[in-house]
Amino acid sequence: MPANPQTATAIASPNIAFIKYWGNRDQSIRLPANGSISMTLGGLESRVAVTFDPRLESDRLETHGVQFDHDPLPRISHHLDLIREMVGTDTPAHIETESNFPAGAGIASSSAVFAALTLAASRAASLPLDPPSLSRLARRGSGSACRSIFAGFVEAFAGDSDQDAFAQSFAPPEYWRIIDLIAIVDKQHKRIGSTAGHALAPTSPLQKARVADAPRRLDLCRQAITGRNFLPLATILEQDSNMMHAVMLTSNPPLFYLSPTSLALMEAISSWRASGLRACYTLDAGPNVHCITHLDDSEEVASRLRVFPGVEEVLQAPPGEAARLV
Ligand code: PMV
Repeated sequence: MPANPQTATAIASPNIAFIKYWGNRDQSIRLPANGSISMTLGGLESRVAVTFDPRLESDRLETHGVQFDHDPLPRISHHLDLIREMVGTDTPAHIETESNFPAGAGIASSSAVFAALTLAASRAASLPLDPPSLSRLARRGSGSACRSIFAGFVEAFAGDSDQDAFAQSFAPPEYWRIIDLIAIVDKQHKRIGSTAGHALAPTSPLQKARVADAPRRLDLCRQAITGRNFLPLATILEQDSNMMHAVMLTSNPPLFYLSPTSLALMEAISSWRASGLRACYTLDAGPNVHCITHLDDSEEVASRLRVFPGVEEVLQAPPGEAARLV
């Protein structure tokens, strides 16, 4: 690497999993237990700047201008090590991150951060990577980050090895006018992060059945999206989310991500759909409820969510763009 600092900045959006990935076949390289499908979330963004600087003694992380010497610096350094190994350098880096949405509460902030980090760091290291390679590498930082490399509706393959575990987009953002209305019920950082959660997945007797049934759910979800059929999408999304939370609840020790407000919202959203609104719910590893709605019904659904007891704020995210350099 040259003696002067090498820098690059990238932006990526988080994504919401419609068919969830939970559990790893190989935890050390985040080889997912099952394939997944997601929508990239437009308007929500993480910006990551990476500067490899030979004058530094070790990696430095600044998030929103505040320096972090602890978590998540080791995880970020470990990710940068993969890139440093690929180009044969040990130059430390200065990493600056900024997001315009709350981190750690089930809005998959790690998906956006690790997608942007992978893109920025590989560019700063002058390592040319095609989108599948970026996706594969982003997966090593955070499993869901492999999907945030891409725009719109994205599928991640479980693969048999590192080489074939990556994602690709199967429909662009404008393909379907649906939107994620994210009901924020808690902005606190979640107590058990998803890395620890994935490690507990095999302790649930339900995980095997969830993984074995994943191809069926993936097919139904992909077909619902490509056919723009809301009701089949709603059915499979809610079932998939409930199956993941059933695994979490039955792990040893059990993981409780749902709050009383999450449960009340899940019930309400299903009943709104029964009365004709195109709305359904899905939740990642946190209490916030992602309410997927058709754009034509979204004003009505958003106004109901805003006045729902316990909802602090409602974010809106249409299908979003791919990770990009700035
Ligand atoms: O990428 P991770 O390690 O934060 O795991 C993501 C796990 C879920 O968000 C719950 C599901 C998913 O597929 O995004």
